[in-house]
Amino acid sequence: MAKAYKLAVISGDGTGPEVVREGLKVLQAAAAACKFQVKTTDFDFSGARYLARGGDPAKPTIPIITEEEIAELKKFDAIYLGAVGDPNVAPGILEKGLLLRLRFDLDQYINLRPVKLYPGVECPLANKKPEDVDFTIVRENTEGLYGGMGGFQYKGTPHEVATQIMCNTRHGVERCIRYAFEVCRRRKDKKLLTLVHKTNVLTYCGDLWHRTFQEVGEEYPDIRKDYNHVDACCMWMIKNPEYYDTIVTSNMFGDIITDLGAMIQGGMGIAAGGNINPKGLSMFEPIGGSAPKYTGKNVINPLAAIGAMAMLLAELGEADAAGRVEAAIALVTAKKLKSLAAGKMGYSTTEVGDLVAEAVGKEK
Ligand code: IPM
Ligand code: MN
Repeated sequence: MAKAYKLAVISGDGTGPEVVREGLKVLQAAAAACKFQVKTTDFDFSGARYLARGGDPAKPTIPIITEEEIAELKKFDAIYLGAVGDPNVAPGILEKGLLLRLRFDLDQYINLRPVKLYPGVECPLANKKPEDVDFTIVRENTEGLYGGMGGFQYKGTPHEVATQIMCNTRHGVERCIRYAFEVCRRRKDKKLLTLVHKTNVLTYCGDLWHRTFQEVGEEYPDIRKDYNHVDACCMWMIKNPEYYDTIVTSNMFGDIITDLGAMIQGGMGIAAGGNINPKGLSMFEPIGGSAPKYTGKNVINPLAAIGAMAMLLAELGEADAAGRVEAAIALVTAKKLKSLAAGKMGYSTTEVGDLVAEAVGKEK
């Protein structure tokens, strides 16, 4: 019997549905080529639904996703997410109510973001080639400044106090670092894991990360260990991206450096990521936003969403299918697309999906 997977699909807002459609097209091509089955179920957790149900556009008044719906999602093998963010809903409501809620409630403690320059893609860095920009960032995904600890005192007065606490636990840091060592070990090249933090200023959280990195590192004698301050890391990512192999970092620093990473791999049109619970339910998404101004125009680049599908397949254990999708993306960037930017690809969103799906079928 062929394997059959259950996939929950959250298309979300803006261009989310358009890119998800192409990702699913490629998925079906990969399933046919690799002889497994996938049954998809759509979930509408969009800003439009929130508003239609009477949610206040200015502040969160009803849940974006309910407890029952989260329980329902847990029956699936993986989640495929399009985009979160609706101009008619105040910033933060959907992001916190859906994306962060799922990351936390499903304990997706890893945010895995490969930074890979595909062939034929224009790199904004002078003279850098695909072999120079190829590393993976492991971002902690459930703690740190994202934990939500803090508050106001004397709000609205001249004596107002606001705190936002960077809270890390040994458990949270250790499991993230251990995961990063494993990722690094599986990568074929440099076997170098770089911890990125700001230990010269953040002397408590930074110290916990650094000590844990040293201690866990003793279990990985085959992997070289290095440390960069986050500001220096931004500099090196531009100057010497070829230095990096695997980076492990905290939630907020990871958020920031992965946008930088997305740009040096050719932009938001190609950058994919996975919110991973290694023993549970993981969720894969293009890391760009909902791109409201391109919505419904069939011009958005679906490759980031298709790359997220490759990561999803890899996490499910379908390595052959994942490899085919990756190879098909590389073929399409190398041979077809004029640019990765929305509206400038030389093809529509659906045509790019067709090209990749066709290449997946032919591969090998
Ligand atoms: C990302 C996004 C999110 C984050 C936002 C939308 C909450 O920027 O996935 O990187 O900050 O994690
Ligand atoms: Mn981000």
